[in-house]
Amino acid sequence: MTLRVGIAGASGYTGVELIRLLVAHPQVEVVALSGGRAAGQPVAKSWPALAGLGLPDLQPLSLELCAGLDVLFLALPHGVSAGFVGELVAAGQLARGLRVIDLGADFRLRDPAVHAAAYGAHPHPELLAQAVYGLPERFRDQIRGAALIANPGCYPTATAIAALPLVDALGADWVVADCLSGVSGAGRSPGPRNLYCETTERAVAYGVAGSHRHTPEIEQLLGVPVTFTPHLAPMSRGMLATVHARVRRLPSAAELRALYDAAYADHPMVVVVDSPPSSGDVRGTARAHVAAFVDPARGVVTATCAIDNLGKGAAGQAVHNMNLACGLPETAGLPLVPLLP
Ligand SMILES: NC(=O)c1ccc[n+]([C@@H]2O[C@H](COP(=O)([O-])OP(=O)(O)OC[C@H]3O[C@@H](n4cnc5c(N)ncnc54)[C@H](OP(=O)(O)O)[C@@H]3O)[C@@H](O)[C@H]2O)c1
Repeated sequence: MTLRVGIAGASGYTGVELIRLLVAHPQVEVVALSGGRAAGQPVAKSWPALAGLGLPDLQPLSLELCAGLDVLFLALPHGVSAGFVGELVAAGQLARGLRVIDLGADFRLRDPAVHAAAYGAHPHPELLAQAVYGLPERFRDQIRGAALIANPGCYPTATAIAALPLVDALGADWVVADCLSGVSGAGRSPGPRNLYCETTERAVAYGVAGSHRHTPEIEQLLGVPVTFTPHLAPMSRGMLATVHARVRRLPSAAELRALYDAAYADHPMVVVVDSPPSSGDVRGTARAHVAAFVDPARGVVTATCAIDNLGKGAAGQAVHNMNLACGLPETAGLPLVPLLP
């Protein structure tokens, strides 16, 4: 089986990461790409590194882009995807079998009021209940065969992988999550958050005290209050989530390790490791490395998870979701070894 795949937003960071992964995928042909301002141009004009690969030119985002596609990835700013998915549904594209995987936030929150508070009123709130939240480690069975998949945010992915065993098995009822992101997390549009002089050799917290839009997504996922503080770190890509929780009964170090091993034994993209993982260990992959530690003096468990914000945090997880939705081997086409050193 060869899937005919399109990528909307191919001139952006998650879009080009999708291209990188999908060009190498053994059961995919990339047949359609769209851009916003870059529409009408060869994709190599946006990404000179892609010259000579025979990729289609960037088209405007339109229903015609989707004719004959099996899978469409939406790597668009939040708000743009929701309206377009509404058009796709009205045109019968999902009913005919098109699978849509949205890398943005438009279909992640189940409650329209929570969505409205974080992102503004949803143009198609009726579609929120149809979307499956694409965290395979939590919702693998629902992702299989799904037509509309909300790919999780990067911070929620890393935080959930670190914290879910603490909530599920140890009864944590409040999680503190301190997280770092590389600068590509802000997207490719220039702004003060990604100027070289204002991001290199420095780090800063932002979205503090519950004000970041990923807070409700993380709380929806964990089902407990979360004090989430993101930090911008001087690296192009990569993400760390370090979470702390008081738990009902403090496990021994061996019990804690066994708990994480059991939670992820059946999940090929999560690796439980012995020492605090580095973002460099997963760079360019769709994998997460996670480690957990007991602090008996304070009755606290600390777990730390490394992902690539563009990999497991976006495009890599989206391809993982495509594999599940389309019945392919779960890890098909996904690089497992990072660029080292
Ligand atoms: N960056 C990350 O680490 C990350 C991680 C997880 C999730 N996400 C989410 O993934 C989505 C894409 O993020 P990104 O970082 O790839 O953003 P980006 O680099 O800014 O790229 C956005 C893409 O969308 C296109 N676009 C913008 N407005 C459009 C419009 N009105 N109509 C059609 N196309 C339009 C842009 O085209 P032109 O540039 O040609 O105008 C570009 O191709 C966002 O929702 C983001 O929140 C990002």
